Amino acid sequence: MNRTMLGARTPPIRSAAEVAVMRRAGRVVAEMHEAIRAAIAPGVSTAALDRIGRDVLDRRGARSNFLGYHGYPAVICASPNDVIVHGIPAEDVVLAEGDIVSIDCGAVVDGWHGDAAFTAPVGTVAEEAHRLIAVSEAALAAAVATMVDGGRVGDIGHTVSEVVEAGGFSVVREYTGHGIGRAMHEAPAVPNHGRRGTGLHLRPGNVLAVEPMVNAGGPGTEVLEDGWSVVTADGSWSAHAEHTIAVTPDGPEILTRA
Ligand code: MF3
Ligand code: CO
Repeated sequence: MNRTMLGARTPPIRSAAEVAVMRRAGRVVAEMHEAIRAAIAPGVSTAALDRIGRDVLDRRGARSNFLGYHGYPAVICASPNDVIVHGIPAEDVVLAEGDIVSIDCGAVVDGWHGDAAFTAPVGTVAEEAHRLIAVSEAALAAAVATMVDGGRVGDIGHTVSEVVEAGGFSVVREYTGHGIGRAMHEAPAVPNHGRRGTGLHLRPGNVLAVEPMVNAGGPGTEVLEDGWSVVTADGSWSAHAEHTIAVTPDGPEILTRA
């Protein structure tokens, strides 16, 4: 984030050619999601899911934007149950029937970044867990729909919190979505709460990563001793949904969709 960007009235504008490269990065992320989603099952370690992500990156000749980010040791974040985001994959974190797990990953193609996350059930899960995931996805979808020419960054956050709170859940405030382009995290921050009609103006060529983090209980967060894993303060479960989205003259385009 730099001062110039903070003062801008719109996030950076990407050319159609630049968005086309980001679309290729987004496709790689979508392919990682598909491969990892298919592997999620009781008895599978989150380290195994990370290897699947690495295989897709290798196959597509893409680079990981997660690996080495402030020393981060993996190409995905795998965040089970009460872990909100930034869970580190490990051989001894083994998924169990009834768990949920959030998978966040990204890819860089020709210098341009994609970033997206989803939450999946592990085997058969409680009705409440299904609803938590569904609400995180609905909040993301509703927020994406506001990303039209003339929309505002505040519309995104307002919409996320409206959907989440109507579902009886709470929105994490300490972590936000972000601009994305030549770096994974660029200005502006894209909070998951806010006021409609406020904030930067969206224009065609803006590309943002929108990522609601939805807690079943209260909104509070804590970071574990590993320095990465963000967990709910009250131990309640949490779901995360994220896409990289371009504002186009024809409306929002999700770049990280399969
Ligand atoms: N997608 C995550 C986010 O936007 C980035 C994770 S950074 C990593 O917050 F280092 F944990 F990989
Ligand atoms: Co992100």
